[in-house]
Amino acid sequence: QGPETVSPTGQPTGAEQARMAQSGAYLTTAQGARLYDTDHSLKAGPRGPVLLQDHHLREKITHFDHERIPERVVHARGAAAHGVFQAYGNASEVTKAAFLAEGAETPVFVRFSTVLGSRGSADTVRDTRGFATKFYTEEGVFDLVGNNIPVFFIQDAIKFPDIVHAAKPHPDREIPQAQSAHDTFWDFVTLHTEATHHTLWNMSDRGIPRSYRTMEGFGVHTFRLVNAEGVSTLVKFHWKPKLGVHSLVWEEAQIAAGVDPDFHRRDLADAIEAGAFPQWELGIQTFPDTPEQTFEGIDLLDPTKIVPEEIAPVQPIGLLTLNANPSNYFAETEQVAFHVGHLVPGIDVTNDPLLQGRLFSYVDTQLTRLGGPNFGQLPINRTHAPVNDMLRDGMHQTAVHRGVAPYRPNSLDGGCPFVAGADTGAFIEVPAPVAASRKVREAPASFDDHFSQPRQFWLSMTPPEREHIIAAYTFELGKCYEQSIKERALQVLANIDSHLCEQVAAGLGLPAPAATGRLADPEPSPALSQLGQIWPGD
Ligand code: HEM
Repeated sequence: QGPETVSPTGQPTGAEQARMAQSGAYLTTAQGARLYDTDHSLKAGPRGPVLLQDHHLREKITHFDHERIPERVVHARGAAAHGVFQAYGNASEVTKAAFLAEGAETPVFVRFSTVLGSRGSADTVRDTRGFATKFYTEEGVFDLVGNNIPVFFIQDAIKFPDIVHAAKPHPDREIPQAQSAHDTFWDFVTLHTEATHHTLWNMSDRGIPRSYRTMEGFGVHTFRLVNAEGVSTLVKFHWKPKLGVHSLVWEEAQIAAGVDPDFHRRDLADAIEAGAFPQWELGIQTFPDTPEQTFEGIDLLDPTKIVPEEIAPVQPIGLLTLNANPSNYFAETEQVAFHVGHLVPGIDVTNDPLLQGRLFSYVDTQLTRLGGPNFGQLPINRTHAPVNDMLRDGMHQTAVHRGVAPYRPNSLDGGCPFVAGADTGAFIEVPAPVAASRKVREAPASFDDHFSQPRQFWLSMTPPEREHIIAAYTFELGKCYEQSIKERALQVLANIDSHLCEQVAAGLGLPAPAATGRLADPEPSPALSQLGQIWPGD
């Protein structure tokens, strides 16, 4: 049963029952007044003008006129499901988060999405997919807002409006609707070569998943866990689908986009309805929380880098099962509000500059999208933990707060003992040192290597996978109007691998450039070099 029909105590409320009244014996107005006719306006005679006094007519049309809310600025198209997360308990060594303790079972809501298309776009386009999970833990909501690709296009959130402006449809013609086959996208990713790794994953079969049920998920950033003793560990989160990782081939994706644009959301809903509940294991890669925050030469704060699973194995820590479809798309899938700042005791953020910007962006955009500051009270967003805050009033306030003194300390309302400084199960930021001698607008030198990991990814591909990547680049770049952008893209490909570059160049009818000194990156770290052709997830 979806949460929109139940009160916080789990019982259908009177008001909520009333909202289901289409199934009742008669219709009412929103005020509960019984109606005898909802099919004819009140008129001055059968052929006369409509009367302004017809409250029911005005209420019905006015409400309809306001049914739409802004779609998400990114990830507008999505599909979601309810489920449960069962912890294995082994993560208690590294985190005190109660929902990861042995035997803990936590209700969850998961929303999958494409990134660039509008709410009505097709499911099977070449794109990154969102994989956002809301854990309704007893210590508050924890959101793991991830993607199906383990790296991101940019290294600093200040570039997020820029990459999204470049990747969304052109401002003049609003073409193309959802794919990466356009000049501004390729202009951006070839001028910002830190985007090379993510773009290569997009051009691989990972960009056209077979099903949401067969996608991996990644938290992308490095997070910080802290255990009961206060010891912290750096981690990367992974979702591993029990059905394995599967993709469509390009022709299937094209046909599905035409024949059934709802291919992925239908697949998810049908599977759950049939009792074939999709499952993922949550896993973590763990790294010592050293001052350098690197592992085998890889900067853990750089979201364009992965840490290969061969050198940091993913350890399973729990099982996610999706077992119920939403009962109302708008109330649940559309109104759900994820936020990387929704953390619980035992999980903290790091200084990854992309993550830091996300900590600001989600609530900010939701203030517009969901109309004011009280969207946390919507049933799908409501925490299952007791709430005792001092937030008051605002648009769409549904709580009836008691007391007169929403400030602290106060001598009027009593109750709520609070001992400053006492750790009573509270979320406490890890007191990690902040080393700053000066304010700067610059990235660390370790963020400059843009090609060694894309090269490792390419080398790990099988021959058919390489053919798919070559075909994808050729098709998408073939849609560009600007010759100079295609040429710059070939230069980027040359810096990944000469064969990849030559094949795409041949497809585009252009000469293949050689790798350039300026763009060619430093030698990969020793650990990466040893990996040879092996790569995670393959
Ligand atoms: C939405 C993931 C980077 C801003 C989303 C959603 C996901 C996601 C999964 C959809 C949530 C849903 O289903 O409702 C990621 C990942 C990122 C990333 C994995 C990088 C690792 C960023 C950055 C920003 C940003 C850098 C801004 C600085 C947004 C906004 C939304 C969104 C504004 C729409 C939220 C809403 O309207 O509710 N992101 N994102 N994201 N993301 Fe990100």
